[in-house]
Amino acid sequence: MAVLNQLTSQEAIDLENKYGAHNYHPLPVVLSRGEGVYVWDVEGKQYYDFLSAYSAVNQGHCHPKIVGAMVNQAQTLTLTSRAFYNDMLGRYEKFASEYFGFDKLLPMNTGAEAVETALKICRKWAYEVKGIDENEAEIIVCKNNFHGRTTTIISFSNDPVARKNFGPFTKGFIKIDYDDLDALEDALKSNPNVAGFMAEPIQGEAGVYVPSEGYLAKAKALCEKYNVLFIADEVQTGIARTGKLLAVDHENVKPDILILGKALSGGAYPVSAVLANDSVMNVIKPGNHGSTFGGNPVAAAVAMAALEVVKEERLADNAERLGQLFRSELNKYIATTDLVTLVRGKGLLNAIVINDDEESDTAWNICLKLRDNGLLAKPTHGNIIRFAPPLVMTEEQLLDCVSIIVKTLREFE
Ligand SMILES: Cc1ncc(COP(=O)(O)O)c(C=O)c1O
Repeated sequence: MAVLNQLTSQEAIDLENKYGAHNYHPLPVVLSRGEGVYVWDVEGKQYYDFLSAYSAVNQGHCHPKIVGAMVNQAQTLTLTSRAFYNDMLGRYEKFASEYFGFDKLLPMNTGAEAVETALKICRKWAYEVKGIDENEAEIIVCKNNFHGRTTTIISFSNDPVARKNFGPFTKGFIKIDYDDLDALEDALKSNPNVAGFMAEPIQGEAGVYVPSEGYLAKAKALCEKYNVLFIADEVQTGIARTGKLLAVDHENVKPDILILGKALSGGAYPVSAVLANDSVMNVIKPGNHGSTFGGNPVAAAVAMAALEVVKEERLADNAERLGQLFRSELNKYIATTDLVTLVRGKGLLNAIVINDDEESDTAWNICLKLRDNGLLAKPTHGNIIRFAPPLVMTEEQLLDCVSIIVKTLREFE
């Protein structure tokens, strides 16, 4: 088959351009292999992966334990649908519920589906438990959020490119400033129809915005005061990325609804989930919600292995330690230059802000040079570059990456 012949990078790019929808603008590099913190392009050049598929590959590329679990299950039973029980789903639901400290889990596949699921559970809870009149429930979200790409989710995005010409939009959302507790309390106290407040504990796509210390704990307390569900979208921040198992753990916050995806499978397979206690999750009854692939046996096996790796390899501790080192090394560089204004983040979810306007292409050009120098990262905006390597990185590798980044940045001074 022609498509399986070895392609050059240019041939692979040309194929995607001609036959694929143009819904992404990838950095021009064509990868064909990955292992741990490294990926290789089709010409055999090695790179550090400093994006980890948007924090999905926290456990490193092709982790043998995760791949082993996947191959083993794929040779045994792949899909039953939820029309029948299978012998993996219940095991996984017990394992993951206990792992994250909730009564129940609802399995889905992608992050956006899990967000949709959480919104549906929240609305149903509002009508059936809180007692809001039908069709009146509202959910508070934050400006500059990123929760995925479905029609409902983009209804409360304020990214014009994500929204333009996709209307009409879903009603029932109130947008407030991120990291603004007064705005949250104003929205809550004036409106008995609020069912939930959904936020990212760190706004990843917006450019790794870390809220003020105490924001999450106080937001959760406000939600309790007004009998509103606190929904944490940890699709990007969860599973050890920020130096704790969950980013809300930094403030000892327990969300009413937890949304997970990405690294729940170590990037091996699309696995997402919503977790909640019975008082919330039990509003969901047969026929209310579902997915043919959600909770399939391969997903269950992969997710259990991926979560075991996080604990066995102490990835949260490694992310915390290396994150401190990364920011302190970059701050040393920042003290010597006008090119970069700051580095921010938690654990190994970080970003640098380039001293240029948001519409510039400086961050893109820096990412092209980083690629040439053997490290792959991607801008989140014209002047912001996110740095999120796999959490299995060693200190020596991290320092090597810092020297590549600093050397590259110096070329732009
Ligand atoms: C916080 C957050 N929520 C949801 C999503 C959507 O996940 P997916 O792309 O798997 O649908 C993302 C993806 O980047 C995300 O960062």
